[in-house]
Amino acid sequence: MTSFSFDFSDIHLPGLSFRPPVLLAPMEGITDPSFRRLILDGSESGAIGGACTEFLRVTQQPLKTEVLHRALGRRPQSQVPVGVQLMGNDPWAMAETARRAADTEAAFVDLNFGCPAPRVFQHGAGSALLDRPSDLARLVEAIVTASPLPVTVKIRSGVNDDRLLETVLAGIEAAGACLVTVHARLKIESYQMPAKWRRLARAVAATNLPIIGNGGLERPEDLEAMGRATGVAGFMIGRAALRNPWIFDQSLAYRQNRSQPQPDLADHARWLARYASAMENSGASPRQALGRLKQAARYQSAQGLAELADRLPTAMRCQDRDDFFRTLGLWEAVPSGEGEGRDSPH
Ligand SMILES: Cc1cc2nc3c(=O)[nH]c(=O)nc-3n(C[C@H](O)[C@H](O)[C@H](O)COP(=O)(O)O)c2cc1C
Repeated sequence: MTSFSFDFSDIHLPGLSFRPPVLLAPMEGITDPSFRRLILDGSESGAIGGACTEFLRVTQQPLKTEVLHRALGRRPQSQVPVGVQLMGNDPWAMAETARRAADTEAAFVDLNFGCPAPRVFQHGAGSALLDRPSDLARLVEAIVTASPLPVTVKIRSGVNDDRLLETVLAGIEAAGACLVTVHARLKIESYQMPAKWRRLARAVAATNLPIIGNGGLERPEDLEAMGRATGVAGFMIGRAALRNPWIFDQSLAYRQNRSQPQPDLADHARWLARYASAMENSGASPRQALGRLKQAARYQSAQGLAELADRLPTAMRCQDRDDFFRTLGLWEAVPSGEGEGRDSPH
């Protein structure tokens, strides 16, 4: 297999830079503004280069600017570019929404052609367009033409197979998008491991656009492995960021040959407490915040909270946040008066 040199150069495009070329993946129900800010502002400078909102569904009417503002939330202090991600198939409504995004703090517009959700797929949006490369390209072109902001695209590698990957990428490039994130799984592969990174090498060979590789980046060394195996220009980390919010700092330390931060149980407890406070401060109800907290603890029980796995089922039944931390045995580690105003969420 071809081996590429491990290139971690920043990505510079007209009007948009990713420095470093490591992005937080959009994840509906996870990467809301509170989570994004915690990651973007809590990570070391130079650890993470960009992010975007969870997908915003656009049907026949363009989204109102307030909807875009709400999805973006309060601007992270870190100045890392944050885009809005749109998903739909109506060229006019999508193009007009992209135009409105320029009236917000969005740094770019990302288009979602990866969503496998049945309701979205049945309506011909998200990953459904991967089977209709000409329609997909026409849609991208309409949006690029209307959008004052740079337009990026995120795709899965196909619906049932990856035969159209090169055709889809050629259409996206001709339509004027400036970068493509390729999730190395098909729609029918859901989140199956391992993601097939050889598709990323094909994507790199098929287009002059920078390709961001996504799928199955779990540990800092995986970025290097993906880079060497595929030649991608950048990396997007999804679920591993919830499982281990320190992964961006660890990846930076790995690249700089430094020892990596090794969060202990108390670090996880503090992170979870800050997450809960950040959500409540941004208007989530205690119930919503507790739901997200449980979700985060479930993800983290696969890694940093593994030793608490036995207590998790009971904690999942807790009705309030303090009870939740007590049940997990993390209460002592939660600083009193935990809130958003602290310096580092890590
Ligand atoms: C719960 C969840 C929600 C997701 N929501 C979105 C989304 O809103 N937009 C999008 O482009 N991808 C979404 N994805 C896909 C991720 O961005 C990413 O492509 C996928 O998780 C693979 O990366 P990973 O293996 O690093 O997790 C979602 C994934 C998950 C698990």
